[in-house]
Amino acid sequence: MSCSSVKIAILFSGRGSNMQALAHHIAKADVPAELVMTVTNRPDAGGIEICEAAGIACTVIDHKSFDSREAFDAKLDGTLRAANVELICCAGFMRLLTEGFVNGWPDRLLNIHPSLLPKYQGLHTHKRALEAGDKMHGCTVHYMRPEMDAGPIIVQKSVQVLDGDTPDTLADRVIEQEHIAYPEALDMVLKKMAGTT
Ligand code: GAR
Repeated sequence: MSCSSVKIAILFSGRGSNMQALAHHIAKADVPAELVMTVTNRPDAGGIEICEAAGIACTVIDHKSFDSREAFDAKLDGTLRAANVELICCAGFMRLLTEGFVNGWPDRLLNIHPSLLPKYQGLHTHKRALEAGDKMHGCTVHYMRPEMDAGPIIVQKSVQVLDGDTPDTLADRVIEQEHIAYPEALDMVLKKMAGTT
């Protein structure tokens, strides 16, 4: 690992707003990181246009072209290692990664999830928080472990659930916090990698 600049890859599957927030943060002069690539598993992901507009390299690895999770993960792993990636940020990457892949990147694989983990792993987190009558909801950035949406928590941000909230209005407030939480968590991880905390 270079002492001055950690080589980062961002993985996404859809709209790419967290990818954009991270890319914007990494581009700041005082962040000791370099965005070497983004990868998406979906050729139709909206985030691809964001990358094109910003001049960010984006590799498409369509999971439908592979006949097993292992084969897809092997291709992903090879692509990241060929680019000398040192830290992977999953940002709305909606694909389960195999245990072998995850264990190959110990504490070098981060994820963001739209709930206050360990609550509501998986999908439809905003709807589930509303149905449970939760007063608080939020997002979590965590180190990834082979279990879905699990691993040591780095940053959590909460939002209040308001009367009349729908899954969409709640999601709008949570995503704002996601865009703050992920850069904050990245800074903490970079400091740890540099041995300064
Ligand atoms: C975000 O809300 C992110 O937390 C979630 O997908 C959305 C992606 O939005 N990720 C997960 O649910 C992972 N389990 P984005 O493409 O605009 O960043």
